[in-house]
Amino acid sequence: MAVSSQIVESMKNSSWIRKMFEAGAELAAKYGAENVFDFTLGNPNIEPPAEFEQILIDYIKSPAKGKYGYMANAGYLDVRQKVADYVGSIEKVKIPAKNVIMSCGAAGGMNSVLKTILNPGDNVVVSAPFFAEYTAYAANHGGKLIAVPCKDDLDLNLEGLEKAIDKHTTAMIINSPNNPSGRVYPQATINKLAELLRRKSVENSRAIYLISDEPYKKIIFDGNTVPGTFAAYENSIISTSFSKDLSIPGQRIGYVVVSPKAEDVGLLIDGIVLCTRVLGYVNAPAVMQKVVAEMLGKSVDISFYEKKRNRICEILGNIGYEFVKPEGAFYLFPKAPGGDDLKAVDTLQKENVLVVPGRGFGAPGYFRIAFCVADSVIEGSAKGFERAYKALTK
Ligand SMILES: Cc1ncc(COP(=O)(O)O)c(C=O)c1O
Repeated sequence: MAVSSQIVESMKNSSWIRKMFEAGAELAAKYGAENVFDFTLGNPNIEPPAEFEQILIDYIKSPAKGKYGYMANAGYLDVRQKVADYVGSIEKVKIPAKNVIMSCGAAGGMNSVLKTILNPGDNVVVSAPFFAEYTAYAANHGGKLIAVPCKDDLDLNLEGLEKAIDKHTTAMIINSPNNPSGRVYPQATINKLAELLRRKSVENSRAIYLISDEPYKKIIFDGNTVPGTFAAYENSIISTSFSKDLSIPGQRIGYVVVSPKAEDVGLLIDGIVLCTRVLGYVNAPAVMQKVVAEMLGKSVDISFYEKKRNRICEILGNIGYEFVKPEGAFYLFPKAPGGDDLKAVDTLQKENVLVVPGRGFGAPGYFRIAFCVADSVIEGSAKGFERAYKALTK
């Protein structure tokens, strides 16, 4: 066969998000796009800040030579210094520039980190629901993802995590604000998680790294902030991107930062740099590195998503859907009325409302709404959500 059996298997289980998105395209062709309410894709629907394009244009027009060439695999040193200063100011820790590795989005960064730390048979623990691609990212490098269901309020289930961590556990991934739940893990949870990982690292005589996947960190509502991990836990690694907060997912730019207190920190950094090269990313996009270095701390107008969060919560809450109000990102993760997520998704689809079943994120019994859509989609979906709720609860 032309395609490996592992890839054939992966294709069979191919992403629910894609499946639902394709179903949406079919419905749109049949009923007209304006009559289909597609909440499947987490694709930012606001343009990048005007400043972003101006910085890009100015840089491209600048007389600097070699703008499009290779640089060190870890990225431009001046850019890494700016990222180190920025992240250091947020995490309240001094970070050297060498601890920053520019990456091809959060996905590229995460793959470089996992390739660096995983031995065959190792596992990576995650709280469910989780971003579905983590399963593939771990498997890409011989690792296995172990998912632990979260608590009812969508916070981390520390007791469950304690049971799941074993002597093969190399890392835990957290993602806050979370895709698909919008949950932000409180500082107290992060502190308790740090205690747990520290204790388990001693028991296992090896460091368990905490990988904090943070592409939604700036998309946060009600004036809150997202607790950091560096001050709480020495073996922390941040992986993030500008995909969501600057609305530039196609530009594939992000970074990894290794805590200066991490075990084997020098070796770890050198490993991530090497893996960036050998995985074929080589380096993060050259021009984008220079542009985002001028945009650190900036984002699209977050109130744009906050208003949508408020409206979708109002519509679904009035109907009777049960959910935890998202504190960040642009996702809502309600319980499937009646408990069966596939049935709920199917019933909603009959109303031309497209959402993704929770099992696609390791959490059956829920469904995900990506509310990064036009207001007309949110308003137009209300009747369908109501009819589906009635059908599912009668
Ligand atoms: C939780 C999470 N992590 C990582 C990624 C990948 O981000 P990027 O496109 O920057 O690689 C996404 C994208 O949707 C995400 O939701």
